[in-house]
Amino acid sequence: MHDVRDDSAPLLTLSGVHTHIGEYHILQGVDLVVPRAGLTVLLGRNGAGKSTTLRTIMGLWQASRGRLVFDGADITAEKTPDISRRGIAFVPEDMGIFSGLTVQENLRLAAIGGRFDEARLDWIFGLFPALKRFWLRPGGTLSGGQKQMVAIARAIIEPRKLLLIDEPTKGLAPAIVDNLAQAFEDLKARDTTILLVEQNFHFVRALGDHVAVMDDGRIVHTGRMDALSADEALQARLLGLHAGAVH
Ligand SMILES: Nc1ncnc2c1ncn2[C@@H]1O[C@H](COP(=O)(O)OP(=O)(O)OP(=O)(O)O)[C@@H](O)[C@H]1O
Ligand SMILES: [Mg+2]
Repeated sequence: MHDVRDDSAPLLTLSGVHTHIGEYHILQGVDLVVPRAGLTVLLGRNGAGKSTTLRTIMGLWQASRGRLVFDGADITAEKTPDISRRGIAFVPEDMGIFSGLTVQENLRLAAIGGRFDEARLDWIFGLFPALKRFWLRPGGTLSGGQKQMVAIARAIIEPRKLLLIDEPTKGLAPAIVDNLAQAFEDLKARDTTILLVEQNFHFVRALGDHVAVMDDGRIVHTGRMDALSADEALQARLLGLHAGAVH
C-alpha cells in the first residue's frame, strides 16, 4: 500500500517501532494509532519514551525496526524536511526558538513564502496576546512561558495535518494554559489532529479524545480519554494517580 488516502484510516500508525540511541535500546516495539481529527494524549512517567516517540515520528531519530505510516504513506525511512512537508509540525520540549531572531522573524521562518496570513495571525494574537507585545523582541530575551507561546505559534502559523507537541504547559501561568486549551479546541475545529505529550492529567482529561500510556519504551494502554477519566482504578494502575488526587 503506497500513498493511498483513506479518510476512515488512522492519520498516523506506528507498528512495532524500535529506536536505538547509540547503544541504548529506547523504544521497544511501540504500537500507536493516532485517529484522524481530535486530540490524542500520550501519557507516561519520566523516561518512558514519550519524547523519543515524537522525535522518531519526526525522523529526528531513525526507527531501527518497525513501520510508520502517515496519511497513507510509509514515512519510516523519510528525512525530517520531507516529513515536515507532509504536514506535520513539532513543538519540542526545548522549544527550539532562535534566540537571535525576533518573535516576528521566528514565525516568518515557518510561514510559507515568508508571508503571513493576516487572519490567521490575528487568531494567534487573540490566543497569545503577549506575542503582539513582544513582536520585535529577540527570542532569547523572552521568558520560558513566552518562548513556549512562540514555539506553538510557529507550529500553527500554517495549517497542518498533525501537530506533535511535547509538554507545552510546563512553566505556563494558569491563564495562558487556558488559552492553550482554547487553541487546541480551535485547531481541532479546523481539522488539525494533535498528538500531545503531557504529564498534567488534570489539564488533558477534558481536552483529550484518545489516550495512550507508555512505559519502558512500549505502549501499555490505549483507549478513549473519557473512559480513563471515569475509571479511578485504571488511573491508579496506569498513572499512579490515587483516588482524590485529581480534581
Ligand atoms: N540522547 C539520548 N541519549 C541517550 N539516552 C537517551 C537520549 N534521549 C533519551 N534517552 C533515554 O531514553 C529514555 C526515554 O527518554 P524520553 O526523553 O523519550 O522520555 P520521556 O517519556 O519524554 O520522559 P520525560 O517525561 O522525562 O520527558 C530515557 O531513559 C532517557 O534517558
Ligand atoms: Mg520528554
